[in-house]
Amino acid sequence: MYQPRPGDLLASLDTPAMIVDGQLMEENIARLMARFRETPVRVRPHLKTAKSPELAHRLLAAGVIGCCVAKVSEAEVMALAGIEDLLITSEIVGPPKVTRLVNLLRRHPRIKVVVDSQVGIQVLSAALEVADLHLNVLIELNVGQNRCGVAPGEDALALAQYIASMSHLHLIGVQGYEGHLQHIHDLQERTRRCREAMHLLTTTAAQLRTAGFPIEIVTTGGTGTAEICAQWEGVTEVQPGSFLFMDTDYRNALGPVYANALTILSTVISLPSPNRAIVDAGLKSLSIDSGMPEPLGLPGVQYQPAGDEHGVLFWDKQTNAARLQLAIGDRIAFYPSHIDTTINLHDTYYVCRNGVLEAIWPVTARGKVQ
Ligand SMILES: Cc1ncc(COP(=O)(O)O)c(C=O)c1O
Repeated sequence: MYQPRPGDLLASLDTPAMIVDGQLMEENIARLMARFRETPVRVRPHLKTAKSPELAHRLLAAGVIGCCVAKVSEAEVMALAGIEDLLITSEIVGPPKVTRLVNLLRRHPRIKVVVDSQVGIQVLSAALEVADLHLNVLIELNVGQNRCGVAPGEDALALAQYIASMSHLHLIGVQGYEGHLQHIHDLQERTRRCREAMHLLTTTAAQLRTAGFPIEIVTTGGTGTAEICAQWEGVTEVQPGSFLFMDTDYRNALGPVYANALTILSTVISLPSPNRAIVDAGLKSLSIDSGMPEPLGLPGVQYQPAGDEHGVLFWDKQTNAARLQLAIGDRIAFYPSHIDTTINLHDTYYVCRNGVLEAIWPVTARGKVQ
């Protein structure tokens, strides 16, 4: 069986394969860290994108203070790999998840979670009391995304009081994620609306402090807004994730702030007609929830999935030159349109530099959605 090894040529890899440009990825990390170095805000990157302990360790070495994960199962992977300061950014609900969290907390006491309901708090608290464990929590606020989160102001205060009545839960912060603003193309509009969200978040944090709650963490922001958030007084942490690799959706919204550092490599397996080529990357290799992936170096050529395992490249007659350049066996690389959902389709990162395979990293938290 062919087993790729560091030192192999990129050209020798089987496809579809997820390729990381090591140089560009390192530059993305350095660029992000440089942007926040001069601010009092710390970076707690979101690992729901990369799903990789190797990348988490690199981020920690670059100076981030800890990491976010979306789910308990992701936290299990990262904690096992030695990443202790983890914030789980989704509400933990249901006995199986609560049991998993408590088991994890026993060995990794620095894990913290967000809460947004009395029901959720009550169930967590009961399990913690039985286990005699303590857990730090952040109240999640709805700052406009209309996903999870209590309303800023009075509702948050009421929830804080409820948490205070639980002996094994300790309120240490607030989270308000403005996911609905990340991809707004117009920077002024993104900035204006982000500042409105930051106002809601930090005003509530101040109200909670006035009421006597020790709010140390005010966490927010993704790749599209983190810098705007960091300029707002009262924000203490930002949670960007996609900046590591970017995708076309983010590039189209933000411009070349970070480089597109990840591609999916495919092979042309059939040329059935003068304006169509079939590649071996379909819905199981490239996600399309944020639009179609973009083939590199083929202007005027478009991609569409042709089932689970196939993709079709097509072009009009004016772009006939592209057809002439394609042959069966050619390698076509794609920029994903949405990096998170594409990475979750792959087992392995092939990290390359100058056309040579440098490292092979498993996507260890792939499929960890529980
Ligand atoms: C709560 C939370 N924080 C941060 C992020 C990171 O955002 P991005 O990958 O856009 O940088 C996400 C992404 O969905 C998120 O859900």
